[in-house]
Amino acid sequence: MQLNFTTRETELLHLVAQSAADLQIEAFAVGGFVRDKILNRDCKDIDIVCVGSGIDLAKRVADNYRQRYPNDEYPHVAYFKNFGTAQIRLHDIELEFVGARKESYRRESRKPIVEDGTLEDDQNRRDFTINALAIYLSKERFGEIIDSFNGLEDLKNGIIRTPLEPEITFDDDPLRMLRAVRFASQLNFRIEDKTYQAIEPLAGRLKIISQERITDELNKIILSAKPSVGFKLLFNTKLLHQFFPEMVKLHGVSLVDNYGHKDNFYHTLKVLDNLSENTGDLWLRWSAILHDIAKPATQRFEEGHGWTFHGHEVVGARWTPKIFTRLKLPLDEKMKFVQKMVALHLRPISLTKENITDSAIRRIIFDAGDDLESLLLLCDADITSKNEEKVKRYKENLKLVLQKIKEVEARDHIRNWQPPISGEIIMQTFNIKPSREVGIIKEAIKDAILDGVIPNDYDAAYNLMLEKGNELGLTMNN
Ligand code: CTP
Repeated sequence: MQLNFTTRETELLHLVAQSAADLQIEAFAVGGFVRDKILNRDCKDIDIVCVGSGIDLAKRVADNYRQRYPNDEYPHVAYFKNFGTAQIRLHDIELEFVGARKESYRRESRKPIVEDGTLEDDQNRRDFTINALAIYLSKERFGEIIDSFNGLEDLKNGIIRTPLEPEITFDDDPLRMLRAVRFASQLNFRIEDKTYQAIEPLAGRLKIISQERITDELNKIILSAKPSVGFKLLFNTKLLHQFFPEMVKLHGVSLVDNYGHKDNFYHTLKVLDNLSENTGDLWLRWSAILHDIAKPATQRFEEGHGWTFHGHEVVGARWTPKIFTRLKLPLDEKMKFVQKMVALHLRPISLTKENITDSAIRRIIFDAGDDLESLLLLCDADITSKNEEKVKRYKENLKLVLQKIKEVEARDHIRNWQPPISGEIIMQTFNIKPSREVGIIKEAIKDAILDGVIPNDYDAAYNLMLEKGNELGLTMNN
């Protein structure tokens, strides 16, 4: 098989081969690099396994690199003695070195390695056959593929399979169950039956894995082209139940007098897939996952009305920081963005149900600010129904809202707008401290401008401030 190495990769791999020959040890490129090369996917890291000391090999590579490229800066070798691993970053490529070992391979493992092994030992303890391929890096056999577990066949057929009995491979590192789902979703592969069936009975073992590692895999699932593939697998294997109970609760339909509602789990996945066709933004995709997360907690059956989920967007927004905290997702502006999307996700669609006033449009522009386009993408993705007519009608209505937003924006410049009277001015004028009254007056000015009751200028806002202050019994500071 001919592998398409870039010129840079070829140079570096030859350098490693030369360095291994200098030390009289065998070296191989392994893992994700080999898999991605065969699949013609981009890859930035090259994992090298050698039968000997990975650290010594890395140092030799750095020396040889220096000789070959005297004008380039001396490569920095980061090494971790306890683990027998070393890394060299060479511009945009990272080389990772490790000595072949008898026990399970885990880059993130905190356990020091104990026993050296052969290449075969090393490949035996990897996660999947497609990740247990190796490329010879010796002068004589440079570039030849070693395929001990029919990984090439599995790559061709799109199969995720453990090299050993799945129970053994998963027991070595339970995160691999999640990785099986991640690769299935990311590469659009199928998890082979025996491997798949081993997951559910072992799903509880995910408990010993750090949340950071779990979330890392989860985010990769979310970023795959069709994330529902991964989420359905997570649900069916009960992996999802181990770390995301709120999402599991979306599943199922309650019935009262034979009245059901949408299954919110599958609806959420549909929204996520729809949205993923239009954005690769992880946080916007997270907004889709959380937009209806509080529906089960807010659902009521109202006689004559059917099922309602009043306030689910408010409760969902309230839950967002809690869920982010537990999943060890960032609590910065990314979380705030998701929270805002969850809170506002009903607004544009609800506009289409009434006569669309300029005032309502100004409010949504003001509230969404720079995230308005993202919100509209989410709303568009949220239109799901088996009834094609309905979908068409809703989408048309949303287009109308968009049209109207463009008109109002061009005219009123409300996005990221700040009302002309600040809290400071209010406090100075009435000689008061920060208080409820300041909030009331500010809100009244904002509402009056957004509703078009007064023009968007200082004098009009100032007069309204005086009027409101008077109503509240405040007196002016002389
Ligand atoms: N590996 C493993 N078990 C794990 C993690 C990794 O056996 N729990 C092995 C696999 O052979 C894998 C290699 O280590 O191919 C490198 O791991 P990593 O860089 O985490 O993943 P990649 O397979 O390279 O995939 P990606 O770059 O998409 O994360």
